[in-house]
Amino acid sequence: MINIGVLISGRGSNLQAIIDAAEAGEIPAEVAVVISNKPDAYGLERAKKHNITTAVFEPKKFVDKSAYESELVKVLKQHNVELVCLAGYMKIVGEVLLKDYQGKMINIHPSLLPKFPGLHAQKQALDAGAKVSGVTVHFVDEGCDTGPIILQKQVPVLDGDTEETLSARILEQEHKAYPEAIKLFVEGEIKTRKGKGGL
Ligand code: GRF
Repeated sequence: MINIGVLISGRGSNLQAIIDAAEAGEIPAEVAVVISNKPDAYGLERAKKHNITTAVFEPKKFVDKSAYESELVKVLKQHNVELVCLAGYMKIVGEVLLKDYQGKMINIHPSLLPKFPGLHAQKQALDAGAKVSGVTVHFVDEGCDTGPIILQKQVPVLDGDTEETLSARILEQEHKAYPEAIKLFVEGEIKTRKGKGGL
């Protein structure tokens, strides 16, 4: 059983999937703290409904990114967090968080990386005419959606898909993929080779 810290910026549906999986005993983990960089993130309400401690740190209130991230690390350590899950956290992770949590910090992205990193991944897939897209859970490194891949799930892109319909189909798989990846992490099933992911 390990303590997870979840970083969010908004809706928090992946956070909800993680909380639900933990409460159902599907993953050997507990969400110990949820941290948002936005005070109005709906995910904070979700956490509160489950009596999970929440914290809000707004980057603009700190002198620089390192000072901001130092606060995050402090709170994560206070809660004995051993795995940090980024779930719709809309900031690039900097060196302070990486120093303590590289290899213990994972992210979910709505495409089959390395295709379509960054913002609007579903729209990128549609614009490229992709027939298949999906979801990736990966370790976080200093890049944007570039770290070693833990697992992926494919989703078909259908004729007539819009950004909304494709996003919804991918999101359904995200909610399965994230708990699965956490389970693999906790059970020690992930091995990386030459900096790349894989089982
Ligand atoms: C998800 O599509 C996730 O893959 C991406 O941001 C979105 C967050 O959604 N990184 P939610 O806040 O978990 O509902």
